[in-house]
Amino acid sequence: MEESSLCLLLLLSFLDSGAARVSLTMSPDKSQFFKYECFTVSCEREEGEHRTTWRVMKRTKDGEVSPCLSSCSISAAFPVTDSGEYWCENGQAATSNSVNITVTAGSVILESPGLPVTENDNVTLRCTCKETQTSCSVLKTEFYKDGLLIDGSNTGHLTLYRVSASDEGLYKCKTLGSDESPESRLTVRAPPGGRDAPVPLPTLFILLRHLLVGSPYLLSTVLLGLIHRCRLRAQRVRKRRRTCSKVVMEMEHGNMCHHT
Ligand SMILES: *[C@@H]1O[C@H](CO)[C@@H](O)[C@H](O)[C@H]1NC(C)=O
Repeated sequence: MEESSLCLLLLLSFLDSGAARVSLTMSPDKSQFFKYECFTVSCEREEGEHRTTWRVMKRTKDGEVSPCLSSCSISAAFPVTDSGEYWCENGQAATSNSVNITVTAGSVILESPGLPVTENDNVTLRCTCKETQTSCSVLKTEFYKDGLLIDGSNTGHLTLYRVSASDEGLYKCKTLGSDESPESRLTVRAPPGGRDAPVPLPTLFILLRHLLVGSPYLLSTVLLGLIHRCRLRAQRVRKRRRTCSKVVMEMEHGNMCHHT
């Protein structure tokens, strides 16, 4: 009885830790940076994730993949070496969500969230000129989504109210001097409450795969546990026997003493 509940517990904890329980965070949360700006991308473990080490990976435009450490702190960003996709990965090739970061040598950036935003959030997009670029002005800014003009602004920012999936797309901005920012994708994700939805098939597959890969480990752990228990029990029995014979001997000895 005890063994089966132990087994179940192990199984549950294994299933639990098998899923990728890490999320990528970045500070500041922006998808575009000027050259020489600094930013940090790190892996944040979610509750219950403690067995594996995660590290940040970076894929640059030319397709080269290189690891950072557990966090990736860039103190002076460069367009070629620091633009690209960042994600978290552990030794077992499980991955987190990813962010695409663009570092530009240009004079304008679109400050949009790099991480996915949550449905119904208000999201502010900001068009920003490089401080040293005096000819650049956001007093008359145009915002584009998927190449189409969606709005003009004389403040340099645009707020999207209560975003939904239809707000997803590639955004950029253009300033008065017609300096143009790079394009960045805005990703909208369902609110956490929406996780009650039925488990999609891919997740099931991942779980099954983890289970299959993990079962030898699980079996050997349970077996080792059982062997250990048996050994302990055998030891206890042996010890009891030894103590018994000692007591008997002592009693006999005592008797002898008593007799003399
Ligand atoms: C990042 O960019 C790559 C290549 O352009 C693309 O395949 C990927 O889906 C993007 N990821 C995100 C989170 O936008």
